[in-house]
Amino acid sequence: MSARTIDGKAFAATVREKVSRHVARIKSEVGLTPGLAVVLVGEDPASQVYVRSKGRQTREAGMNSFEHKLDADASEAALLSIIEKLNNDPAVHGILVQLPLPGHINEDLVINSIDPSKDVDGFHISNVGLLGTGQKCMVPCTPLGCLMMLRDHHGSLSGLNAVVIGRSNIVGKPMAQLLLKDSCTVTIAHSRTGDLPDVVSDADIVVAAVGRPQIVKGDWIGKGATVIDVGINRVERNGKTALVGDVDFESASKVAGAITPVPGGVGPMTIACLLANTATACCRANGIAEPESLTA
Ligand code: GUN
Repeated sequence: MSARTIDGKAFAATVREKVSRHVARIKSEVGLTPGLAVVLVGEDPASQVYVRSKGRQTREAGMNSFEHKLDADASEAALLSIIEKLNNDPAVHGILVQLPLPGHINEDLVINSIDPSKDVDGFHISNVGLLGTGQKCMVPCTPLGCLMMLRDHHGSLSGLNAVVIGRSNIVGKPMAQLLLKDSCTVTIAHSRTGDLPDVVSDADIVVAAVGRPQIVKGDWIGKGATVIDVGINRVERNGKTALVGDVDFESASKVAGAITPVPGGVGPMTIACLLANTATACCRANGIAEPESLTA
């Protein structure tokens, strides 16, 4: 048996399409254009690519994109001052500060200076607390994208055994909270978990977000399980650089019921969910009905 490959590229296109339709409705009914501000500090090449892509996709969805670029040696105070202006700007509904920040800047301080209602990354401590207590909040984009794909594949997730491998604040922890909220039985495993293959073998859903190339093997996975691979790892293969996930796709796809590839799985969903969060933030700030299928 071979697993169904979940096409994240196609799924992300449907999410962007829904966002575009919602944005058009906001414009025609309320005369508002949702706006996303992205702040980049320094010249990290990968971050520059992400930021360009976020700006382009924001504009393609019919929203306003505001970019703020600071030199790598910009002060923490200068960054905080930009965030304060964006917090008070009514044309800005979402604020994203691209991470990682240079070492001299306190990342937690910066994230927690963003107005929580504009925190489209869902990283602010208020949003983390709201998610942990099952309340309405801004949800981190990558786990939101994984949740959308899982709901689409399974319908209801209620009663399923989910194992999340990885305990990061950006993916692992919020993913576990979202699955719990959808009534899964959730285990959070990580790189130090004693018998990882045994823990994974019981899962109906495996979300791999541990950042270790192809650590999850096919013989760890229960027959018919759904495997969501969040990993993006660069490895050297025959003198060339290749992108691989945290899951060994070849062996896993022989056992799983459904699986996301790398690339083309979770990756494209992250920016699509950022656009969805920006539209949601704009709706909440202005008392407009929000698009239900674009939220958790
Ligand atoms: N850097 C890599 N991924 C992300 C993300 O999801 N949000 C932000 N702000 N920075 C990132």
